[in-house]
Amino acid sequence: MRILAFETTCDETSVSVLCGRRLLSNIVFSQIKLHRKYNGVVPELASRAHLEKIPHVLGRALGQAGYRRPFFKNGRLNGPEIDAVVFSRGPGLPGALLVSRMAGAAAARLLGAGFAGVNHLEGHFLAYEYEGNALTRKIKFPCIGLIASGGHTELWKAHDYGRYAVLGRTRDDAAGEAFDKVAKLLGLGYPGGPVVEKTALKASTRRQGGAADFPRPYLDDSFDFSFSGLKTAVAYRLRELLGADFYEKRKKATPGLAAAICLAFEEAVTDTLVHKTVKALKAYGLKRAVVGGGVAANARLRRKFYESAAKDGYEVGFAEKRYCTDNAAMIALCGAKRLERGRLGGSVDIAPDLAEVSWV
Ligand code: KG4
Ligand code: ZN
Repeated sequence: MRILAFETTCDETSVSVLCGRRLLSNIVFSQIKLHRKYNGVVPELASRAHLEKIPHVLGRALGQAGYRRPFFKNGRLNGPEIDAVVFSRGPGLPGALLVSRMAGAAAARLLGAGFAGVNHLEGHFLAYEYEGNALTRKIKFPCIGLIASGGHTELWKAHDYGRYAVLGRTRDDAAGEAFDKVAKLLGLGYPGGPVVEKTALKASTRRQGGAADFPRPYLDDSFDFSFSGLKTAVAYRLRELLGADFYEKRKKATPGLAAAICLAFEEAVTDTLVHKTVKALKAYGLKRAVVGGGVAANARLRRKFYESAAKDGYEVGFAEKRYCTDNAAMIALCGAKRLERGRLGGSVDIAPDLAEVSWV
């Protein structure tokens, strides 16, 4: 089975070709440079940039998968047939989603292939199965899934492929969004996750420069998340230390202070993510967790999970770093799982706020 997948939910334009268990291509074009000066993604600019880039990214993905130009000859694809075309129908930015929707529909029509929309967050969860360019790992069900990305933080009880119960989700900011906003408060640039992680590594101690600890938003009995208070706590701490006009002065904050704040913030976020996952594992008597999404690339989070798993007696698996952030390979995999179950179908309408995660 050959699947062509499109991913343009946020600021990565990505196209991938999956053939059986082999990933033939996964081209990811990041718009970071475009959005950097705004310290975040500007939706209108993102959709336009996706539209400009998608033909090029598609061409590279087909080329790397072994197709030769011209890709179409006498009305047929110049190479092995594609069985299905899939795209992320949501959640994501509406204008950005439309680009994959239209490119995918056009490709499916030209190729005479099936066409389906899949859930972006399921892609983050399934991405665990890739090892290099092959699908060599299998998620063992039932398990707890933690998806921590720029737009979402969700905890799932995963019964099987396509059968997921959402236990909790973010009530306000997602974990990745909190990283991005803290980086902005400190004037460190965009995207926040990698730069906060790097800056935190320079801290000799969390208390350096008076950064101290930040609260852990555990929200008592709930499996929901809330990270916006943590971001506000960072803003208040900066105001205390640098004065009311800290936003103007923030670039003058000593490197030691920025590092200490990044470390304290990262500790609070990662403790919260691990705490909630362990709580869900215990509540449902499960012994396996799978973690995906951009924040899953964070080394401190990975380390904390491994330590916790050893202590509490459970297994934890992470998507490889390259498959944590947005990519079309994970979307192709969503399509593959559907084809394996003989049900590619499903809505092809874009769904910016898509909340339903199950498809069986
Ligand atoms: O999954 P993703 O690529 O996009 C969404 O679906 O939102 O996640 C992007 C998010 C950004 O907020 C980024 O700051 C965060 O993931 N991120 C990280 C790291 N790398 C990316 N957060 C913490 N540590 C990282 N190393
Ligand atoms: Zn994502």
